[in-house]
Amino acid sequence: MRRVQSRSLTLGIETSCDETSVAVVEDGRRVLSNVIHSQVDLHKEFGGVVPELAARDHLERLPQVLDLALGRAAVKPDDIDLVAVTRGPGLVGCLLVGVGVGEGLAAAWAKPLAGVNHLWGHIYAAMLTRPDLEPPLLGLVVSGAHSDLVRMPEHGRFEVIGRTRDDAAGEAFDKAARMLGLGFPGGPALDRVARRGDPRRQRLPRPSLPGLEYSFSGLKTALLYRLRDLGEAVTDQDRADLAAAFEQSVVESLLEKLDLALDQNPVAEVVVAGGVAANSLLRRRAAEVIAGRARLTMPPLELCTDNAAMIAAAGHYGARSSSAQPADVDPSLSW
Ligand code: KG4
Ligand code: ZN
Repeated sequence: MRRVQSRSLTLGIETSCDETSVAVVEDGRRVLSNVIHSQVDLHKEFGGVVPELAARDHLERLPQVLDLALGRAAVKPDDIDLVAVTRGPGLVGCLLVGVGVGEGLAAAWAKPLAGVNHLWGHIYAAMLTRPDLEPPLLGLVVSGAHSDLVRMPEHGRFEVIGRTRDDAAGEAFDKAARMLGLGFPGGPALDRVARRGDPRRQRLPRPSLPGLEYSFSGLKTALLYRLRDLGEAVTDQDRADLAAAFEQSVVESLLEKLDLALDQNPVAEVVVAGGVAANSLLRRRAAEVIAGRARLTMPPLELCTDNAAMIAAAGHYGARSSSAQPADVDPSLSW
């Protein structure tokens, strides 16, 4: 049956790390379905993501996640106009599963295929949050492997203007949580425990490099030495205080550079996105730092962490931009 109104439906696929996700998004803005299967339980006993297990689980779960996504959106393969899949950066074995399935579906359904840069996907999560949001914008993408400041002058164009020299913010949170014995996944656990702590009782250094560069490895070492000094005497309250001090240090460092980037690149719209954007202190402080200078958009928690709706949205706009790439797994390409 022909559709009366012309709308464009994108099927998104995300398998770059430990979430298997398929989504259907209308016109790059409206989420019709966004099915996410988290592998947290699979990796918990290892204290981190095991790439081989993750890739195999993506392969096993994808058919069911795909069926659910189509069913919840109440669409058939024939209704889909574009298949968008994360092509990188991420765990190569995991990316290959998503890209292979994307290529297979695109071929079987005779649909075009767009390869999406996962990080730009995180920025597009903000477009799903606010349908009126348009570039130019300044973005801070904070995930498990990246802490990037980006300028987005128009759809499909991104310029990284700042990044981390060593650890990413999410990686730093995960490692700190492990040192504090808070388990996996570390970021959300540290966020919770820090609420019971006082950052002034166990002060930690605030990393600060010149320009728009981040560095979190020194802070991590400072935490390690502090825990070593406390030794057996460490209490739960010490751990909560240290979690709060660590969180404050990372968050203030992230925002100091965002503040500087906004001074250097005045724009009306600022986006803070990626898994770490789920952090409660970052959400509160970002709103304070940006207030009165630009409009801040931070996606809701379920769109901060990895999901396929953001990949579908980015694919929709990327397919319309001249810089769109095919879906080969290539973590180094910018779209
Ligand atoms: O974007 P994401 O889901 O996956 C990657 O692309 O890496 O980000 C995952 C990262 C992990 O390091 C996780 O610990 C962190 O986001 N994270 C958080 C919180 N929720 C997730 N970090 C701090 N506070 C949170 N509430
Ligand atoms: Zn991510």
